[in-house]
Amino acid sequence: MKRAFKWLGYIVGGLLVLIIIAVGTAYAISSRRMARTYPTQVAETIAIPTDPASIERGRHLARAVGKCQECHGDNLAGKMVSDAPVFARLSSANLTSGKNGIGDYTDADYVRSIRYGVGRNGKPLIFMPSEAYYHFDDADLGAIIAYLKSVPPAELPVTPAKQIGPIARILFLTGMFPLVPAELIPRNQPRPAPIAEGVTAEYGSYLAKTGGCTSCHGPDLTGGNAIQGVKVPNLTPAGSPGKWSEADFFKVIRTGTRPDGRVLSAVMPWLNMKELTDAELRAMWIYLQSVPAKQPAN
Ligand code: HEC
Ligand code: HEC
Repeated sequence: MKRAFKWLGYIVGGLLVLIIIAVGTAYAISSRRMARTYPTQVAETIAIPTDPASIERGRHLARAVGKCQECHGDNLAGKMVSDAPVFARLSSANLTSGKNGIGDYTDADYVRSIRYGVGRNGKPLIFMPSEAYYHFDDADLGAIIAYLKSVPPAELPVTPAKQIGPIARILFLTGMFPLVPAELIPRNQPRPAPIAEGVTAEYGSYLAKTGGCTSCHGPDLTGGNAIQGVKVPNLTPAGSPGKWSEADFFKVIRTGTRPDGRVLSAVMPWLNMKELTDAELRAMWIYLQSVPAKQPAN
């Protein structure tokens, strides 16, 4: 009996040591990746327009395509993005010129943070989806910046927080959670050529990249993984959209309701996509129908 307990003690003790080593390693590797310093200079100069039409275009792109309000709040003054310590305690930033805001940002600061996911100190912005915004062309990024500069000042309503817990770190290290989008963004590469706005598959593809559809549904849109426990569906013609009409797709995006009546989880940010115009949704629909029908790899 005594002997059995002794062995059990060794086994449990050994397992605990292994777990401590595994968690410690996960903390060390993820901390190093989050603390890496990136170049702060930005090669490109982007024209920031000041006319009302461009500011309105920027407002639309920020709200409906980039969905900045989802994480930065309706007045863009920032909020808690996650408040669960085992996952992460993370606040977004105040994008206005109010207290704790970015009123002293230079144009290069805007471009570096939005397009490359890197803050003023050269550290990567955590969980800020620049891998999608990288695809905005210069005119659209300029319009978004023009809009941000026009937003009334407000104060960050929460205490800033950046504590990344074990779950977010483990998901990050297994490639399932984009904690450091800066790692995914090409630097010093020629910019992709701008794509003309229109009801075309090419413009639909542009909206799918800048709108983050490919960030969650995968570069080939086959989905397959899970986010916050919700399975990400296949958007290629091999998935449900292959059986839908254009009207079904419009209804899914505008109301979150699938043809079978099920309302989509809020992990799919449909609440922030409502303002996409008919022309934009039509372009996305044409694009979704044009991609190869494929099953997810896993
Ligand atoms: C999925 C959530 C999310 C979305 C959507 C999002 N952001 Fe962010 N953003 C963050 C978080 C979190 C931070 C803070 C990162 C940090 O502190 O490391 C941040 C930081 C920033 C910063 C840096 C501010 C500073 O203090 O230096 C800028 C600029 C910014 N976001 C702009 C935008 C714009 C513009 C959009 C929409 C086009 C947007 N964000 C959409 C989560 C998001
Ligand atoms: C933050 C991650 C995320 C982003 C960004 C995102 N989606 Fe989703 N999407 C999901 C998840 C998760 C679901 C599944 C929700 C459910 O089943 O309740 C989903 C469901 C869908 C569905 C329903 C498909 C079906 O078979 O039921 C469509 C259509 C869709 N997304 C289109 C898009 C488009 C178009 C974009 C870009 C404009 C986009 N999504 C961006 C995560 C995302």
